[in-house]
Amino acid sequence: MKNVKEYIEANKDRFLNELIDLLKIPSISADTAFSQDVIDAARAVEKALKEAGCDTTEICETDGYPVVFGEKIVDPKLPTVLVYGHYDVQPPDPMNLWDSPPFEPVIKKTDLHPDGAIFARGACDDKGQFYMHVKAVEYMIKEDVLPCNVKFMIEGEEEVGSDSLEAFLDKNRDKLKNDVILISDTGMIANDVPSITTGLRGLSYVEVEVTGPNRDLHSGIYGGAVPNPINILSKMIASLHDENNRITIPGFYDKVEELSPEDRALMAEAPFNVEDYKKALDIGDVYGEKGYTTPERYSIRPTLDVNGIWGGYTGEGAKTVIASKAFAKISMRLVPDQDPDEITQLFMDHFMAIAPKGVKVKVKPHHGGLPYVTPIDNIGYQAAAKAYETTFGKIAIPERGGGSIPIVALFEQILDSKIILMGFGLDSDAIHSPNEHFGIWNYLKGIETIPYFYKYYTELATQQ
Ligand code: BES
Ligand code: MN
Ligand code: MN
Repeated sequence: MKNVKEYIEANKDRFLNELIDLLKIPSISADTAFSQDVIDAARAVEKALKEAGCDTTEICETDGYPVVFGEKIVDPKLPTVLVYGHYDVQPPDPMNLWDSPPFEPVIKKTDLHPDGAIFARGACDDKGQFYMHVKAVEYMIKEDVLPCNVKFMIEGEEEVGSDSLEAFLDKNRDKLKNDVILISDTGMIANDVPSITTGLRGLSYVEVEVTGPNRDLHSGIYGGAVPNPINILSKMIASLHDENNRITIPGFYDKVEELSPEDRALMAEAPFNVEDYKKALDIGDVYGEKGYTTPERYSIRPTLDVNGIWGGYTGEGAKTVIASKAFAKISMRLVPDQDPDEITQLFMDHFMAIAPKGVKVKVKPHHGGLPYVTPIDNIGYQAAAKAYETTFGKIAIPERGGGSIPIVALFEQILDSKIILMGFGLDSDAIHSPNEHFGIWNYLKGIETIPYFYKYYTELATQQ
């Protein structure tokens, strides 16, 4: 029998090549032009689960893209780990900022990844990260050391809000029944600073449309006398933050959980260097809500950000025009105990209320998601902590994450499970950005660490 390190050493080229093949499929869920590729990715994942040794695999239809399910039941009396991940990816644009094509993976060294990193859309978010689980389970099955049952649920709509998943969970409670849910779709602080994500922010996402005159106008003939929707939208957006960078929507902060000074002090112990942060992003200064540190701003505080804004003439040269319409897409990241539907309603009411009489405003809600915080006094967290200690030789730091995985809060509500977020990516891996990558060291370290989670979890669960 091989131990996990020997197994990885003997198989690492294949592990890399299999991931590279999966990364070649442009499974972009946001763009219907790629719908066949999304389905192809689902099939490839099913095949991978079968080859890893799952007894049952299935492509489960939903109202949207399918969920790939697989399981290996060792003994129904033993605990069951449910692995969640997503095979869909973000659109790669802007294409011209990629150094190599997003769906033609290449391996290159970087300062933070001296052993090389795989550059491709989805390398870190989330194909590379869920595939670590497929390979870790392959090891445990092939070497006959899988200590408990495992189920996989890999979805294809995470990047567009997991809209079909609530109904899917509701209908498949038995099939998905588990003792703990394990996810690698977040990050860690650094390769020598392992961390376990203990919270995710929620999300409310809206699109706004401001209409002025009924047609585009000559900006000389009409300019100065009519409401310019782009000027007005800019002003409305600017008014959504005050001079302390607090959000001005009435009621927005009413339910925000304030952390105790002790919790904030604990957070401040995690290593963070603001100078390195500024340097990595090439910004002259950080920017955010007064009274909070940078790590607090990006994890435990709610936000409002314009994600896109357009209208009028943006082509080459200058065109003198007052547009009829202006648009923006706005995300609000939410923290406990904000509710996405309530926040969307507050936004709508406020945004309509601040519009001057001369324009018409429409607000269209997009997807949302609840925030999530996991306690650390449970055997799932303890098992993860012991696993990191074993393979990193260090105690992992609990860390609240700033991103969102909408399904996580629903897992807890509908399946009544605890969720453990063992992420192996770095913030600098550029998820959702051009030149996304995932360190080969991180990929293999994940495969090495995951089997220890199963071992310790089963030990802790069966002791009770
Ligand atoms: N994997 C990310 C979420 C994430 C990344 C959480 C890093 C914490 C650290 C996920 O795929 C994602 O991008 N989620 C979206 C939300 C979704 C509704 C589009 C997000 O956070 O913007
Ligand atoms: Mn993800
Ligand atoms: Mn993502």
